[in-house]
Amino acid sequence: MILRLTRRYRFAAAHRLHAAAFSQEANQQLYGKCNNPHGHGHDYVLEVSVAGPLDEATGRVANPAVLDRLVAQEVLACLDHRNLNAEVAEFSDAPPTTENLLRLIRQRLLARWPETLARTRLAGIRLYETRRNIFELAERS
Ligand code: NI
Repeated sequence: MILRLTRRYRFAAAHRLHAAAFSQEANQQLYGKCNNPHGHGHDYVLEVSVAGPLDEATGRVANPAVLDRLVAQEVLACLDHRNLNAEVAEFSDAPPTTENLLRLIRQRLLARWPETLARTRLAGIRLYETRRNIFELAERS
């Protein structure tokens, strides 16, 4: 029996969608108002899911406090209340789209996956950019 735990987090960040490979006109067509040179902000909602077997001793799949600490240290500390283009190195030459944010969050979580979560694996990440714009990264099982 494999169980899944999902925790929800929030962070606010500013960004501007602009790809250096394309002309100003192409960027305007590609990203529309999200290409505004002065940027704009989002209140992101992040959901992180882990999956694993039931730990008979604790009756839990994972300790949520351990996951919270991992997300706070590896994700929220580098993204919350940041200008993503200016303050996050990965976005100095890549547009801070929600897809690219998902990839960055995945990399950062897996790089520091703690021993205390060793019985579980990262099962998925969902990022709400707006109420209508939701991106999801599904890990292969
Ligand atoms: Ni945006």
